[in-house]
Amino acid sequence: MTASLVSQEVRFDRALIEKYDRAGPRYTSYPTAPHFHEGFGPREFQLEIARSSAEQPDRALSLYLHIPFCDTVCYYCACNKIITPDRARAVPYLETLIREISLMGRHFTPERQVTQIHFGGGSPSYLTLDQTRRLWGALRDHFNLADRSRGEFGIEADPRECPEGTIAHLAEIGFNRISFGVQDLEYAVQKAVNRIQPVELTQRCVAEARAHGFQSVNLDLIYGLPLQTEASFLKTLEVVIRDLDPDRLAVFNYAHLPQYFTPQRRIDATQLPPPEVKLRILEQTIARLLEAGYVYVGMDHFAKPGDELAMAQRQGGLHRNFQGYTTRAECDLVGLGLTSISQFGHAYAQNYKTLPEYYARIDAGELAIFRGLALTADDRIRRDVIMRLLCDFQLDRAATGKRLGIDFNACFAEESPEIARMVAEGLLEDDGNLMRVTAGGRLLIRNVCMAFDWYLAHGPQTKAFSKTI
Ligand SMILES: C[S@@+](CC[C@H](N)C(=O)[O-])C[C@H]1O[C@@H](n2cnc3c(N)ncnc32)[C@H](O)[C@@H]1O
Ligand code: SF4
Repeated sequence: MTASLVSQEVRFDRALIEKYDRAGPRYTSYPTAPHFHEGFGPREFQLEIARSSAEQPDRALSLYLHIPFCDTVCYYCACNKIITPDRARAVPYLETLIREISLMGRHFTPERQVTQIHFGGGSPSYLTLDQTRRLWGALRDHFNLADRSRGEFGIEADPRECPEGTIAHLAEIGFNRISFGVQDLEYAVQKAVNRIQPVELTQRCVAEARAHGFQSVNLDLIYGLPLQTEASFLKTLEVVIRDLDPDRLAVFNYAHLPQYFTPQRRIDATQLPPPEVKLRILEQTIARLLEAGYVYVGMDHFAKPGDELAMAQRQGGLHRNFQGYTTRAECDLVGLGLTSISQFGHAYAQNYKTLPEYYARIDAGELAIFRGLALTADDRIRRDVIMRLLCDFQLDRAATGKRLGIDFNACFAEESPEIARMVAEGLLEDDGNLMRVTAGGRLLIRNVCMAFDWYLAHGPQTKAFSKTI
């Protein structure tokens, strides 16, 4: 993609949304994780690391650390988490994670500088500040971390676990980006999902983050939760905009899939807003955020125009990986901790999902990878196309063909009737070379990407996809 400006226009098109309301992947990877297989293990992964380092010895690294613990359960939660108020359980986890950092670090020379770190979960704020500091020390001991002014070092924090002073300490440890889980500010909704979080608490956390130099403060909201109405969610939005004033907002759609996510069985399904109400909440959310000056960056994500994510999107410099959208040109992503996923040039690898399996592998002095995938040439082409669509909302066939060394039209001949159909239905505009997602099609970007997903049409079918509304 050249540095041409990408338009950030988005429009709520009810007819289009209703027509395309079908479940699909969120494309934090392509192929998606359900296609990983156990034939790909630590040995294959190490070969991929060696290949990547040989191809580009100074390619930057991005580290993802998964801290799975949470003190109490939020009933809607679909994250990879372990709920326990017993903080002692974090102790062996931390020791093992530090050993994994040391094992993994041996595969990289200092030339491979770490320009991005992300602590995700679960709740990374479950750890004590001393534990977090130790973890950071281990990263520093075993990897070459970029200077704080050049690195993007983020943490997902639960305000309920950030007593006064916590955020100052996180800054002092080295973090400079922060995201807070909020979801909804109404007490009745919070009670229905078992997450009581007074707005004053979130407000104090946001203020502390700003006072300590955190950039791009993000808040997570969810629409479609029990007892939400148009009026109640608008109230939440008003307070978020006026009193919390985040640089970025993630507004996720709640997908109720109690058959896959056990805590969701504790949600009273009769209290969920019906699809029609959810649609109106989404419509109103977009209108209100645009009016407040936010721009639609990409799937579920809004940002102020001056935020680095919004600027990167305008300039065609946005990227997508397991953590969502990022401004960093694709670096190799190293996943550490339970369930975490690594992404190298040509492969994905995922760690074990249960503590005993994870502990056993690391105790044996091995990487804890239980499955992965070596991408075929076709996978890599399609991944590029899907990721560019997700980030740029447009695709230049000639430029893409040139970049990937392919004849685009020949490569995607099978997809061209589907592209023509999306043009006819108003999802895409197409001048024969430039395919551009319309303002109304942007909320349905995953549906556009699905047309390029080989596995959806030909591969084994997978489960647990969510919908747009
Ligand atoms: C790892 S949590 C964020 C950090 C911390 N655990 C917290 O909740 O504050 C990631 C985010 O995923 C979102 N999320 C979790 N389950 C979801 C679901 N079923 N549907 C939509 N969003 C969900 C929530 O917005 C949540 O803030
Ligand atoms: S939303 Fe966050 S705090 Fe709540 S259960 Fe999920 S990961 Fe834990």
